[in-house]
Amino acid sequence: MSKILVVSYTPRHESNSAKLLQSFIEIAERKHHITHLDLVETPAPLLLTANLNALLKRNFMGMELAPEETKAVQGADHLTEQLQQCDRIVLAYPLYNFSLPAAVKAWFDVVIQNGKTFKIKDEGGYEGLCHGKKALILMTTGGDFSQEPAKSMNFATPLAQTCMGFMGIESHSISAYGLNQYADKADEITTATQQQIVAYLSSGDFI
Ligand SMILES: Cc1cc2nc3c(=O)[nH]c(=O)nc-3n(C[C@H](O)[C@H](O)[C@H](O)COP(=O)(O)O)c2cc1C
Repeated sequence: MSKILVVSYTPRHESNSAKLLQSFIEIAERKHHITHLDLVETPAPLLLTANLNALLKRNFMGMELAPEETKAVQGADHLTEQLQQCDRIVLAYPLYNFSLPAAVKAWFDVVIQNGKTFKIKDEGGYEGLCHGKKALILMTTGGDFSQEPAKSMNFATPLAQTCMGFMGIESHSISAYGLNQYADKADEITTATQQQIVAYLSSGDFI
């Protein structure tokens, strides 16, 4: 039984990204323990003056925090502990303006913490500290980003995979492309992508 953290940002009514996620949950919940972080209901805190400076002070300067600074980083630390405690992560979101929705980026910004999810090595360079964890990244897009030149304009998947990789998390991405561009085929594309998710899960590579 794996401990799975589902992190989703799917605010649209009838969200197709939520449909992809649902096909994962229906299979996974039979045998695994799922914790769902819904970034629409409970967004990650943005890095602003109080929490950003406290995180820098503690994580990069190695200094003790005053009580109010500890309080300021509680939100970031809670989400980081949630990530540290799981074996698998499933991230589901739509492509927004060629990249990750801000809510998903805000989550990465608080969980990528020096000394917790990555470290700076004595000899220089970085090392991810989330050993043994794997992520599945589910995305839907309006346009078709499956082929060049559009493929290189999808900054979301490389960004999400780079952030995961930086923390030492191996990731696999499954996307449904072109749901607006091929609106008459949107259901077909979504169903085919759901089938890809089912096939990936039956490979046993993830859970
Ligand atoms: C704010 C916003 C920005 C978007 N930006 C893009 C984009 O850059 N490229 C694209 O192909 N689709 C874009 N879309 C369309 C969505 O990615 C697409 O409709 C997706 O399937 C929506 O997923 P959902 O059904 O889970 O909400 C955007 C949609 C919104 C609401």
